[in-house]
Formats: sequence, structure tokens, C-alpha cells
Amino acid sequence: MASSSSLLSAACKRLEGKVALITGAASGIGECTAKLFSKHGAKVVIADIQDNLGHPLTKTLGENNSTYVHCDVTNEDQVKNAVDKTIATYGKLDIMMNNAAFIDRKNTRIWDNETSDFERVLKVNVTGVFLGMKHAARVMVPARSGCIISTASMTSGMGGAATHAYTCSKHAVLGLTRNLAVELGRYGIRVNCLSPNIMQTPLARKFMGSEGADFEKSLSLHWQSNLQGVSLGVDDVANAALYLASDDAKCVSGHNLFIDGGQSICNSGSNMFAESEPAQPHYI
Ligand SMILES: NC(=O)c1ccc[n+]([C@@H]2O[C@H](COP(=O)([O-])OP(=O)(O)OC[C@H]3O[C@@H](n4cnc5c(N)ncnc54)[C@H](O)[C@@H]3O)[C@@H](O)[C@H]2O)c1
Repeated sequence: MASSSSLLSAACKRLEGKVALITGAASGIGECTAKLFSKHGAKVVIADIQDNLGHPLTKTLGENNSTYVHCDVTNEDQVKNAVDKTIATYGKLDIMMNNAAFIDRKNTRIWDNETSDFERVLKVNVTGVFLGMKHAARVMVPARSGCIISTASMTSGMGGAATHAYTCSKHAVLGLTRNLAVELGRYGIRVNCLSPNIMQTPLARKFMGSEGADFEKSLSLHWQSNLQGVSLGVDDVANAALYLASDDAKCVSGHNLFIDGGQSICNSGSNMFAESEPAQPHYI
């Protein structure tokens, strides 16, 4: 059977010859991005703690084009090992995607939050991204090239959409992104982050406490974007990552790319357009 990468003609492959390391790639957005990057010609290193999901993914992508490495992003030795294994296997690292994260329980009152839960979220979502950036920079700077992408969230730019710890952690990912973009620009290394709205993945299902139709119903009540007629999926985030990873974004650095249907720029409490009914086609 043809591998996914051979299904796309060589001319259309936007990451041909590139090597990518993706944390949290065994599931959800990371998994989808790993598949898309591979389809576009990249060699992909899948780094995760879910070995049972990560190993089979290399079979799907093709064992010549992908590798799995067990990597807890809170453990510096394991992050260093993932980067070193990428270099040892494929000779370089072009794209580092810091995507692993988790979310704590939904407590609507700050005094119900355990400090240990707060610190655990920051350890994975912030320290984990910091370590990924640090060890990617270690090998990208001597090469004078590279691209670092981190998965932040719509909560990097607004309050009230997730827990205190998670919101805080994603603001921090944006801070790291901006600071590192300034530091690494002189070496030709681009640093950006992605900020998606909520979509169905194991992380989001845990947060919402629902799945399937119930999940979508909750979204329509509390997280509806003002852009109608589309629903956000992991492939939308993977496509945005592909853009940032590719030469199409060669001048884009320090950017926070929102994939949220305009939700974060729309204040539902003061939206003058909400007062009018949508125009019927014959008016236009
Ligand atoms: N799903 C959403 O609604 C949504 C929205 C905005 C941002 N995000 C972000 O997208 C990214 C991917 O999340 P997802 O929604 O695909 O969830 P997911 O649960 O499907 O994937 C997260 C992956 O990270 C891995 N992981 C968790 N802790 C880890 C650790 N310490 N070390 C290494 N790997 C670890 C998990 O094993 C899992 O494979 C996260 O950064 C998340 O915050 C998700």
C-alpha cells in the first residue's frame, strides 16, 4: 500500500527534506500534525509518554520516515535525549514543535484549586516548552537555521475560557515564544506559536467532562466562535503548523497564530453586530 507521503506529488510537498520533532505527538493535534508533516515529506520524530500510541504511529507513517522516542517533557534528560536521538537518526533538526500539555480539573472558584495541581500544569505546559526550546536551540543555532513552533491556545490571549493554571501556562508559552524569537532571530531561526479554540481531543474531553454530541452541545453554548458554518478540528491546527513550518512563513517570527474563528477578538458583551439579524442574500 502507498504510504501517505507518496500520495502527494513531490511538487506539492512543503516539507521535503525537513526533519521535525513533535512532543505530545501520540494523540490529538500532535498526531494529526505528525501525519501531515510526514505527508509533506518530513521525517518525523514522535515524542510522548504514551508509548502504546506512539509506537504504532511510526508504522502508520512508515518506519523509514518516523521514529518514536519516550519523552516526558518535564524531564530535561529525556528532552535532551529526544533532540539528540533526532540528530543521531536524521542528522539535523529543522522543526521543533512543543505541543505536549495537559489541563487540570475545572474548578470555578480559585480557592478550590490545589497548589500542587497548579504547579503540575505549569511544569508540563511551561517548563516542558522551555526545555523543548532550549534543546532545539542548542542544535539549531550552530546550524544557523530552524523553526520552533509551540502549541499555545486561545487562552494565551484571553481570560475565562479555561482554568487559571492552564490560562496562565498558555500566556507563558506566548511570552517564551516572543522572547526566544528576539533572541534567535539573529541566527535565522523562527519562533512562533499556535492558539486554537477548543476542539475534541482527549485533553478537551477531559476538561469538558463530555464527548461526542454532548461535547459539541456544550461548545455551542459556551465556546461558540462568531465565524459560522465551520467547526474546528485537529486538521485545522495541523494545517496552521504546516504553514509556520514551511518556507511560506519564512518571514514570520514571534507570531501568535489564532485558529479560533475570530472568537478571541469578539466580545460577546459588547457586540453591536449581534443586535441585527443576519442579512438575507437578496439584500446584498
Ligand atoms: N484540544 C483543544 O481544545 C486545544 C485547544 C487549544 C490548545 N490545545 C493544545 O494543543 C496541544 C495538544 O493537545 P490535544 O488537545 O491534542 O490533547 P491530547 O491529549 O490529544 O494530546 C496531548 C498529548 O500530550 C502528551 N503529554 C501529556 N503530558 C506529557 C508530558 N509530560 N510529556 C510528554 N507528552 C505529554 C499526551 O500523552 C498526549 O499524547 C496542547 O498543548 C493543548 O494545550 C488544545
